[in-house]
This record gives sequence, C-alpha cells and structure tokens, in this order.
Amino acid sequence: MGRKIKFTWLHFLARKLKLSTQQKHPIQCYHLYPFRQQNSKLQANNALVKSRNYPRRLLNPQNPSTSSQTVESIHYYFISSAKMATGLLKRAASRVQSSPAFNLSLIRAHASEAQAQKVEPKARDTASLKTFQIYRWNPDNLSKPELKDYSINLKECGPMVLDALIKIKNEIDPSLTFRRSCREGICGSCAMNIDGCNGLACLTKIPSEKTATTITPLPHMFVIKDLVVDMTNFYNQYKSIEPWLKRKNPPQVPGKEILQSKKDRAKLDGMYECILCACCSTSCPSYWWNPESYLGPAALLHANRWISDSRDEYTKERLEAINDEFKLYRCHTILNCARACPKGLNPGKQISHIKSLQPKA
Ligand code: SF4
Ligand code: SF4
Ligand code: FES
Repeated sequence: MGRKIKFTWLHFLARKLKLSTQQKHPIQCYHLYPFRQQNSKLQANNALVKSRNYPRRLLNPQNPSTSSQTVESIHYYFISSAKMATGLLKRAASRVQSSPAFNLSLIRAHASEAQAQKVEPKARDTASLKTFQIYRWNPDNLSKPELKDYSINLKECGPMVLDALIKIKNEIDPSLTFRRSCREGICGSCAMNIDGCNGLACLTKIPSEKTATTITPLPHMFVIKDLVVDMTNFYNQYKSIEPWLKRKNPPQVPGKEILQSKKDRAKLDGMYECILCACCSTSCPSYWWNPESYLGPAALLHANRWISDSRDEYTKERLEAINDEFKLYRCHTILNCARACPKGLNPGKQISHIKSLQPKA
C-alpha cells in the first residue's frame, strides 16, 4: 500500500514538474524585485510589453542580461517546484491511513513549525529595527530646528535611504519634507547629508550598523523646510556661466547640426554627466565661506564643459568672464568635491584645467 502511494505521488509530482518547466516564462520572476515595482516608468513599460505578449521576465530591471534571467528562471522554478512539492506531500500524507506513531510525529512536526513561526517574527523585528535621526524645521512654527528620531523595520523597507524616508513619510509622519523625483540618481533632487557625507538618498544604502543614521540638509545652505534647501544661489551661479552653445558663425549647412569628431566629443566625458545635485559645492569649504562670490565646483565644472566644447566659439570670452580672484581662484584643490560627487566626477580637476588655460600674469 505504502509503495503504491509513494509511486503515485512521485508520478504525479514528476508530471507536474514537467508541466511547470514547459511554461514559456516564469511570471513570478518579476516579483523578486518588489521595490523596483514602485517605478511607474517600469510599470508603464511592463503594461506595454504585456500587451505585446512578450515574456515578462525580460523586464527584470536589476540585471537584464540573458544569463541572469536564466538563473532567475531556474531559481523561480526551484522555489515554485519546492512549494508545490510540499503542498502535494501534505495532501498525500493527509490521505494516508498511517499508524498512530506516524500521526504523532506529523503533529509534533507541525507544532514545532507553528511555534517557530510565532517566535521568529518577534526576534526578527527587534533585530531589524533601525533609527533615523532626521533634521526637522518648519518655518511656520517658532520652535528651533531639532533632530527627530524615527524607528522603522528594515524588513519592511527598501534598501536605500530614500526608501526609508518615503516609508517614514507614508506611515509615521506625513509632515516630513524632502525632495525626490527619479529615485535612480538622475534628477539630483534628493541630495542631502547622510551620516556626515553629502550624497543622493536614492543611491545611498541604509547603513547596516545598529547605530542611528543622521540625515540633515545639504550643509551651509538656507533651509526652506526640513531637508529642503534653497537652491536659488546655486542655480544663478550655474546660469552665470551661460551653459549653452554659443556661436559666432552659423552652421555650414543651415538648419543642420554642428558636427564634432569623436576625439572632441570624448573631451566632454567627466563633465556632461553632472546632474547639478550640489553635493560637491556644498561640501567645498571655500564655497561655505564665499557662497555668493565663489562660483563653486559644480558651476565651474560646467564652465569647463563649454570651454572644452569644440563647437563653441566663445572660449576666450568664457575664460575672461571667470578669470576672477573670487569666482575661480577660491579653489585650493582640497578635492572634497570629488569625494562627494555621487556620479564619480572630479570638479577639482576641471577647475585646474580652467586655471591652466588662463593667461599667465
Ligand atoms: S577642489 Fe576646489 S572646488 Fe573642490 S572642494 Fe576643494 S576648493 Fe572646493
Ligand atoms: S559634479 Fe557631481 S556632485 Fe557636483 S553637482 Fe555635478 S553630479 Fe553633483
Ligand atoms: S531622486 Fe533623483 S537623484 Fe535621487
């Protein structure tokens, strides 16, 4: 009897497994990335692909390479098959008219599993609690700025500091104010100071240490509210370097692009990637002391971007406009800016390049 049941169950399981591996693509594979699902662009893309009946796993946003998809497919099949096997085993066991000893062992196993389920969440919850000390100030209140503590369960939160801020705003304190938009290091709006270092909240992982993480606005900037700072001076400085292509002669072919060699284009690498997040300028001691008169690393990096552009015909004028003791020469090559840049750029090096092009006194 026992052998017969075993054979039937294995046969059934094998058939099921075969059926599941015949599925064209693993639908649930996408659910391995719950945080990425919040991306509205991705969801729109997902809907588009779904409407065209493409495999959904092609949407793996973490790692779009085919090999990783294959690994994930196997992973998914493994997990789903294991789940299915457990379910089938339980169902088969429930049908077996087994001995009292066998029943007792099943009951014990079930009881210990239930006990583990009761104890585990408690232990897990305390272990994964993390405190964030966040700078709070509201211009409408007369109270002074303060650091306010918020504790969240990291098991229920995404891996980045921005995920934690969004969770706090959504679930604990809706009055918490901060800027964010793209949540993938493109817009530059979530720049803030995290544990003493300037960076983008969406690209900074939540520190794994048990100690509280301190989040404050960008240093030496006027605070509008909580983590939002006034960027007016920063943008005016950017505007002052005239960040657009300036020509004295019209293009050779009217209405057509002004072409550039690959070599000339390569000269813009390390500058065009700047997202104007202000992490560099607000970590520069010279900028702290002279924010109105010194242009700061971000604006000067962009000045060099247009000075180095082979299509621009105002190089001399651009150099003259910033050849000033305060606008340019407040940089003392300390390179705090390079350390702070979340895009891995080196504004200090670009400032040195501008200095090297200036006429010697
Ligand atoms: S290298 Fe120049 S711009 Fe960069 S932090 Fe130092 S002083 Fe500021
Ligand atoms: S150079 Fe880097 S840190 Fe500075 S504004 Fe650009 S992206 Fe931000
Ligand atoms: S939200 Fe856009 S850079 Fe962080």
